[in-house]
Amino acid sequence: MIDDIRAARQAAIEQIRAAISVDELKRLSAELGSKRSTLGQLKSRLGSLKALEERRAAGQVHHEAMADVSAEGLRRRTELAAGERAARVEAEQLDLTEILERPRRGHAHIVTQAWERLEDVFVGFGFEVAEGPEVETDWHNFEALNMAAGHPARSDFDTLFVEHPGAPAGTTVLRTHTSPVQIRTMLAKPPPIYIVAPGRVFRRDTPDASHMPVFHQIEGLVVDRSITLAHLAGTIEAFTKAFFGTGFTSRLRPSYFPFTEPSGEFDIRTPSGEWLELGGCGMVHPDVLRAGGIDPDEWSGFAFGFGIDRMARERHAVSDLREMFTGDIRFGEQF
Ligand code: PHE
Repeated sequence: MIDDIRAARQAAIEQIRAAISVDELKRLSAELGSKRSTLGQLKSRLGSLKALEERRAAGQVHHEAMADVSAEGLRRRTELAAGERAARVEAEQLDLTEILERPRRGHAHIVTQAWERLEDVFVGFGFEVAEGPEVETDWHNFEALNMAAGHPARSDFDTLFVEHPGAPAGTTVLRTHTSPVQIRTMLAKPPPIYIVAPGRVFRRDTPDASHMPVFHQIEGLVVDRSITLAHLAGTIEAFTKAFFGTGFTSRLRPSYFPFTEPSGEFDIRTPSGEWLELGGCGMVHPDVLRAGGIDPDEWSGFAFGFGIDRMARERHAVSDLREMFTGDIRFGEQF
């Protein structure tokens, strides 16, 4: 009997060692542990041994045989699992050297690119770059620009208001245009003034293909002696050629802004003869010069303002402005 048990133990261990997968081993272990297995059958025969000594000795050997078989099962299972894991890792491995070889450089967003090129062109003309805050007083954003409270032109700007402790309700705004920088510049330093002021502006607009509630403008302001409309037109034309290329020209069309008189819109003509509307401009209104602490009898000036996002969109033929602000790397990478 004891010899039978030893032989069955040896056979079971050999079967376990021959198993080639965790799945096969699981099936085998269940089989070996069942009553139908050789060891299982030997166990039920233990009871039929007459002599107590003999029964005890055989029982002991059987118990050890079962323990050995299950220990061998565990060992083989660990071994097979490690092999399978290694094979899987090998199979799923990515070749990272492909990515590491060529470090990818990012670049500025197309609006930032346009912003910087615009600055470059005007700095080349001898302008300085000025800045103003994005959260403004309604005085700088409207009143000093000839739009007193209740002025109908204020409703052209869908203003976003900000609660500001210490200021009466409705007097702190997110600037609706970069024109308040005109006022801040005039108050900060005496003429002559030649500045551009790019920046972020805000209007209560529902985003669509050509509108965003947050967008970018660039303001221009010149105040000097004997500045005329011809200087404005000449500057716009020089800018058009410098920025877009010599094949482009510009034109001014009469328009209305409370802070310029006369006022105009300016368009550029592409080499293929298409006209694109770019922005507003005009001669600085005498009241605006006065609000900026400048005597309109001694000084005169012109101002212009236009959207940067639209220029970036035009330049890169982006069909939907919203695409430019999703932050999707796949969009940004194209330019
Ligand atoms: N601030 C005007 C706008 O946002 C543009 C403008 C600027 C017009 C300067 C005239 C002079 O529409």
